[in-house]
Amino acid sequence: MARRLTDPASMPGIYSLLGALVVPRPIGWVSTRSVDGIDNLAPHSFYQLVSTNPPIVMIGTMGEKDTARNIKETGEFVVCGSTVTLIEKINITGVDFEAGVSEFDIAGLTREPSEIVAPLRVAESPYALECRCTDMFEMGNGIVIFGEVVMIAVDENVMDGTRVMMDALEPVARLGASDWSALGEIFDVPRLSVADYESKYGAQ
Ligand SMILES: Cc1cc2nc3c(=O)[nH]c(=O)nc-3n(C[C@H](O)[C@H](O)[C@H](O)COP(=O)(O)O)c2cc1C
Repeated sequence: MARRLTDPASMPGIYSLLGALVVPRPIGWVSTRSVDGIDNLAPHSFYQLVSTNPPIVMIGTMGEKDTARNIKETGEFVVCGSTVTLIEKINITGVDFEAGVSEFDIAGLTREPSEIVAPLRVAESPYALECRCTDMFEMGNGIVIFGEVVMIAVDENVMDGTRVMMDALEPVARLGASDWSALGEIFDVPRLSVADYESKYGAQ
């Protein structure tokens, strides 16, 4: 295999390459409230689950952004789910508007009060993770923000008993450049125990 090698040190700001390799990235739609009471909303594809007990998610922000400032000042945020039908509105909330305007109003989204924290849920979004910030680290040119999930609010219509129905959740992901993606084919691949492995493939 012929591989193209890139030393990151030779290419500062290597986002165009890394952003196209670390894919697909879920898009967390992050809601915050400023100390002045402005409801802010911005998509973040640097978004992951990092712990389940306690439940902790992380988001990564780069540059001077309202989201990071609001979380630093209030300690709270809500991550809402991004869906295929909401792509246009999600993209509008990614415009670098000035701090005094609310992306809820600009994108025509419905404010839904949260149970525990002050930042709002997006009523059109199928889920919301209400978070209290636990840690915030400056790393490289970014800020990594960790939040403990203190309430999970999921639209009943995407639940089948305790199972989340992917076709109803219709998550959207970020790829490289300006490419986004919906889910493709879904495969059921059960996790193997050592016993499962040995019975299927023989002894190690
Ligand atoms: C799909 C999508 C994903 C994005 N992901 C991130 C991200 O992970 N981190 C980031 O800092 N900005 C990201 N952005 C850009 C921010 O959403 C944008 O700069 C936004 O205006 C920040 O808003 P704020 O100043 O209200 O926090 C993304 C934009 C889009 C459209």
